[in-house]
Amino acid sequence: MTAGQADALQRLWPKWGLDIDGRELDLVELFGNEKPVVLEIGFGMGEATAQMAAADPGTNVLAVDVHTPGQGNLLNLADRAGLSNIRVANGDAIILLREMLAPDSLDGLRVYFPDPWPKKRHHKRRIIQPEFLTLVASRLRPGAIVHCATDWEPYAEQMLDVLTAHPDFENTRADGGFAPRPGFRPLTRFEGQGLDKGHVVNDLLFRRVQQREPLDERS
Ligand SMILES: C[S@@+](CC[C@H](N)C(=O)[O-])C[C@H]1O[C@@H](n2cnc3c(N)ncnc32)[C@H](O)[C@@H]1O
Repeated sequence: MTAGQADALQRLWPKWGLDIDGRELDLVELFGNEKPVVLEIGFGMGEATAQMAAADPGTNVLAVDVHTPGQGNLLNLADRAGLSNIRVANGDAIILLREMLAPDSLDGLRVYFPDPWPKKRHHKRRIIQPEFLTLVASRLRPGAIVHCATDWEPYAEQMLDVLTAHPDFENTRADGGFAPRPGFRPLTRFEGQGLDKGHVVNDLLFRRVQQREPLDERS
């Protein structure tokens, strides 16, 4: 961790940091307003997070990662840019989702370049899985967008398969495939490293469908 990152953590954590301690979150209290809240899982060093928050001050960004230097870096970027719409959470996104966020509380989810876990025996560690999507769906408002991106093509195919098969999500693409990188998503640090190696980047934009009828009420 650099001295600047350590200093930012010390100065800004009390104001903008969130410990993942299992307590149910009041998002209006956390951000001090009722603007829509998007969760970003695994922001890395946070450059793209800060750029997107600056470009869209009408949206609050709850950014979670386990990587402490990155948390300090993002706090620094937010401070320098005078951003008030980012909160930084330290810990496991699954606990944040499962234990701290209320049903229908989020207006979107961003997962950019999650760890690809290329070895077959590690595939179960990939975050985009059917059970994860069921948890996410319960925390998203109907109409909310799940936006994923990856430079690891086998993982992109897995993401497309599990999102397409999940009954709570529909592809925003009429052709049912990947999306080109939308203009509002800046290149990320990890993406740049992948592009340097010749990797192909795929974006996926899926919508949380309207509330479904309970199973036994469907014809
Ligand atoms: C490959 S990096 C990508 C970082 C950034 N999105 C980018 O594109 O540069 C994946 C990030 O996800 C974080 N991460 C992995 N599992 C996580 C979890 N369960 N909860 C929160 N963060 C997680 C890692 O610490 C890492 O910073």
